[in-house]
Amino acid sequence: MTIHIGAAPGDIAETVLMPGDPYRAKWAAETFLQDARLVNEVRGMLGYTGTWNGHRVTMQGSGMGMPSLSIYANELIRDYGAKTLIRIGSCGGMQDKVKVRDVILAMTASTVNSPSSGFFRELNFAPCADWGLLQAAAQAAGKRDIATHIGGIYSSDVFYDERPDLNEQMVRHGILGVEMEAAELYTLAARHGCRALAVLTVSDHLGTGEALPSDQRERSFGDMVEIALEAAFS
Ligand code: ADE
Repeated sequence: MTIHIGAAPGDIAETVLMPGDPYRAKWAAETFLQDARLVNEVRGMLGYTGTWNGHRVTMQGSGMGMPSLSIYANELIRDYGAKTLIRIGSCGGMQDKVKVRDVILAMTASTVNSPSSGFFRELNFAPCADWGLLQAAAQAAGKRDIATHIGGIYSSDVFYDERPDLNEQMVRHGILGVEMEAAELYTLAARHGCRALAVLTVSDHLGTGEALPSDQRERSFGDMVEIALEAAFS
């Protein structure tokens, strides 16, 4: 047991899929895993371990934002031996070509501020996805009838961001979408020699203001889980 995860030693798989929402972890475990069982419910941040095509997998909620994700990713890696961590979540689209319901595979994750910012002093560390996972996810996404974009995203530390010209600069520099967790996940994976990737569904668009109705979110979420699982074990 750790401070935030009540799982017994050995209860967490080496491959962990991390949705922000703990109920998504429950849904993904019940929908995609065999013999899924609850391994964590501390603070309601549900975690389940089961198998997918014979491979052990844990679905563990990360909560929203980099400080929350950092707690769970640190404990999963350092205390439970997680080796492959894939964020599955939503993001806001930032480019015209990126539409609501599309999938983004985050090759890099820029950030203004993360829990790891203090580590690097004057260095601008470039958090990036594991190449093997990214390549495998691109292949898995390519087999589906779903528009997929691969490139840089922005991990914001503020959801209700009132720095308009910051978003403008992101758009200008080709950033595909904004979410709030991937940069810290990639940084922690780099620090601890793990593999990480973020597979994201575009749930809203900063330019058009369009937002995915909640009844359509499940289908896109299912695509992401399948892409992540196929990538992890390819
Ligand atoms: N996650 C989903 N949509 C988002 C947005 N617009 N900003 C930050 N995180 C998000």
